Amino acid sequence: MNMQEMIDTAMALVANDKGLLAMDESNPTCNKRFAKLGIPQIAGARRAYRELIVTTPGLSECISGAILYDETIRQQKKDGTPFVKALTDVGIIPGIKVDTGAKDMAGLPGEKITEGLDELRERLAEYAKMGARFAKWRAVITLGDGIPTRGCIEANAEALARYAALCQEAGLVPIVEPEVLMDGAHTMDQCCEVTEEVLRTVFNELYRQRVKLRGMILKPNMVLPGLTCPKQESVDEVADATVRCLLRAVPAAVPAIAFLSGGQSSELASARLNAMNVRFKAKLPWALAFSFSRALQQPALEIWKGDDANVAAAQKALIHRARCNRAACRGEYSPAMEETAT
Ligand code: G3H
Repeated sequence: MNMQEMIDTAMALVANDKGLLAMDESNPTCNKRFAKLGIPQIAGARRAYRELIVTTPGLSECISGAILYDETIRQQKKDGTPFVKALTDVGIIPGIKVDTGAKDMAGLPGEKITEGLDELRERLAEYAKMGARFAKWRAVITLGDGIPTRGCIEANAEALARYAALCQEAGLVPIVEPEVLMDGAHTMDQCCEVTEEVLRTVFNELYRQRVKLRGMILKPNMVLPGLTCPKQESVDEVADATVRCLLRAVPAAVPAIAFLSGGQSSELASARLNAMNVRFKAKLPWALAFSFSRALQQPALEIWKGDDANVAAAQKALIHRARCNRAACRGEYSPAMEETAT
């Protein structure tokens, strides 16, 4: 393991106010999104869609790294260029999702445990050989009646730390993603309390398992009210609550925090990230960036709809969202950027 290289990679992933593009939807998740738009749920369509993404002109001006999925890291452009090469050729660092999904937890109804530790050492070695320089593992925490339980939080934190330690052994930067879900009627304060508990537990496990914090990136949820909570706080209130929570739970040695979008609208995700950087950027120990999937891709997917004729328009929508989010990393995003685009 070369720690300096991992630290350099982690820093490169958030250099120049760029962020990450999560294009690591598993086949079932990708198919679900395709089904809603009437796009065929077949490998060929998934490949064509991922080619649209990696060939988007100018993408590397705003995107530093792209998270791939096992199917995608093995796929090529129509002309035979592997996606990994297409990305590295334009200066985007390839990464790979290595968990195998969140499954129902035995004994803890309504809660999930993320699987994928079996053979992980071997899989990481293979992905590193294929050109991946970082990896991602997502744990899912659900808020509800009597949940989350300590059992769920601790089991997921331990798995995240075991994954992160194996990544660093293989020379890959681990992206550690504990996601407190937005689904539900919980308040922003409840989300804050649970997010803090989850993060403290995760960092405790990372410490116990000797993960080097300078060679990782944290990918958390923003602190938000549940989707069906009657009280929806303002953009600035969300920014304040999120940063306050992170300051209490995330050590300063972590170089960067790259948020997931979690089902927020594209515009709100940009506005909230922007507000955090406007209000706090100069005072924080870590960079605040993005590692969005839906909040970057959804508008492009809705335009593409599986039709070659729509590729250029879809790419325009994708680069627009990437630019908005890079601006948000600088604290320079404004809703007027959306109007100019339309
Ligand atoms: O695992 C989930 C992705 O990495 C982030 O997706 O931005 O749509 O929440 P999202």
